[in-house]
Amino acid sequence: MDGTTPISEVYPLSPLTAEEIQEAVALIRAGIPDGASARFEMVELAEPPKGVVRRFRPGDPLNREAWVNAYHIDRPGVTRCRVSLSEGKVVSQTHLPDAVPMIAPVEFMEVENAVKADPRFVAACARRGITDMDLVTADPWSAGNFGIAEEAGRRVSHVFCWVRNEANDHQYAHPIDGLNATVDINTGEVLEVRDVGDVPIPKAPWNYDRRYQEVVRQDLRPINVVQPEGVSFTLEGHRLSWADWTLQIGFNAREGLTLHDISIAGRPVLYRASIVEMMVPYGSPDGRHPRKNVFDVGEYGIGRLVNPLELGCDCLGAIRYIDAALNGRDGEVETIKNAICIHEEDMGVAWKHYDFRLDTTEVRRARRLVISTIATVGNYEYGYYWYLHLDGTIEFEIKATGVINTTACEPGKPGPYGVEVVPGVLGQIHQHTFCARLDWAVDGDANTAVECNTEAEPMGPANPYGNAYKMGETVLASEAEACRKADQASHRYWKFKSAEKTGLTGLPTAYKLLPTDVVTPYISPDGPSGRRAGYTFQDLWVTAYDAEERFPAGEFVNASDGSDGLPAFVVGDRDLVGTDLVAWHTFGLHHIPRPEDFPVQPCITCGFKLMPVGFFDDSHLRDLPWARNAASCHAG
Ligand code: NI
Repeated sequence: MDGTTPISEVYPLSPLTAEEIQEAVALIRAGIPDGASARFEMVELAEPPKGVVRRFRPGDPLNREAWVNAYHIDRPGVTRCRVSLSEGKVVSQTHLPDAVPMIAPVEFMEVENAVKADPRFVAACARRGITDMDLVTADPWSAGNFGIAEEAGRRVSHVFCWVRNEANDHQYAHPIDGLNATVDINTGEVLEVRDVGDVPIPKAPWNYDRRYQEVVRQDLRPINVVQPEGVSFTLEGHRLSWADWTLQIGFNAREGLTLHDISIAGRPVLYRASIVEMMVPYGSPDGRHPRKNVFDVGEYGIGRLVNPLELGCDCLGAIRYIDAALNGRDGEVETIKNAICIHEEDMGVAWKHYDFRLDTTEVRRARRLVISTIATVGNYEYGYYWYLHLDGTIEFEIKATGVINTTACEPGKPGPYGVEVVPGVLGQIHQHTFCARLDWAVDGDANTAVECNTEAEPMGPANPYGNAYKMGETVLASEAEACRKADQASHRYWKFKSAEKTGLTGLPTAYKLLPTDVVTPYISPDGPSGRRAGYTFQDLWVTAYDAEERFPAGEFVNASDGSDGLPAFVVGDRDLVGTDLVAWHTFGLHHIPRPEDFPVQPCITCGFKLMPVGFFDDSHLRDLPWARNAASCHAG
């Protein structure tokens, strides 16, 4: 984005450039009360209306606008502003007194430093024999909303603590159980230090860093990905085309990667697709652990936490990267190099048939286009992988890796809410509950959602041999009807059908959402965390399109009360038949840690698939060229 996108290649949905972020910040500084001392939670593209996007042709004038969330550390709330970059003015500003800004990366160390400077905290460490405070770490968790009077109206972080054996040692092998603190992020004031319990701190080192590995296996030879003629996709600014797919890549500080205007064979499928929330509820009632219910998208902004990717390590093959320009807290521009990776992967066999009578074989190889980013949220890494397949399938996969969040236990006594991963180190039971927002446009905006269930016919005159079963469809006609749970017993999936276009056999063209990784929520909807996570209690929500309804746990999630978000969006029970609709899919990981998840967690995955159903008149893969890969060889 910064420096890589000539202005001629800016498209209505291109992310803000570094220059545009600077311009938006300057307009806010001059254009709102006390703007000079404002801090910036978010500067992002204000996406133009769909009609404007669709009418746009390269070279047309663009009215670029930004949303800016500004705040001041000496007063509560957020001022939400709309800024016209084209006209150089603040178009609107609304002060939201109850909104609490997200936690910025720069504040992670500010919180830790405030805690470690507090005499009560130093004394608590000393009581445990820790005297070198440089080795102590305090992870800044969002505080949630637990109705604590002292925290009301403040922007609070709640910390959990660890201690390294020495400077480069793996901190999460040495949890300090029972030591927590709360900090006012804006003032640096330590509101409380809580020091209870005497669970011993496990001391054994468990390092994964290459500097500690005395034995490195020697039995793996290189695998090279060779693309002698280059890649098969083209990237112009943020417009991407590959095979018969076209789409626009977006990025913002909150969601990270976003995909827009996804079409195949010149026909629209999705107007917008992104991961709009992730909540990680931990299952231990002990000590301060009930406060571990973090919303990584809404409380931190996962786009801010994206890593610069490394060629040949994170990404193999012929790679194109896109940089991301984001705002820092004080209005500066922060550019993440190589934030988004685009490449192709061989996917094995696409299809094959051997005709035993003719003794002929036809086989074609599959490949997919991968659009990915990797974010680090404290101890965890989340790899986001969107896959486009040649047969029209769109797939999303999360790869969760990094380090499980640890606490300490008496060796051999982990209790019921976690797994002792190594002696004295407890990995608590938890979930990662994501929400995908899928703004469908299956052959246009007029779409209808249906649920598909398979059931056996009762044995009887119509089913004399007991073999009959059939799939039935139920229209999800309104938002209330479209609050649905997955059901493996009926092989349930949901279909999004065009209200206007039909295929060769006369049925509406459609895409289906295959829910492969739903999670059963175990937090109570009546608890302080469950009240704020209403979206997690359905696997599917469908809403009538409203540009303002963007996030399933609400526009401002940090310390929220749960009154905003999907449960509120569907109260009006809007009609959904043949309309512009948005599907929200809840999915994730039910994570009971294994000893093998420590000291570093091999990737575990979850996701979902979107597949054409009668969208094409045939397999859409007959035209793949027959080819023999010349670089393959007989080994040994
Ligand atoms: Ni996990």
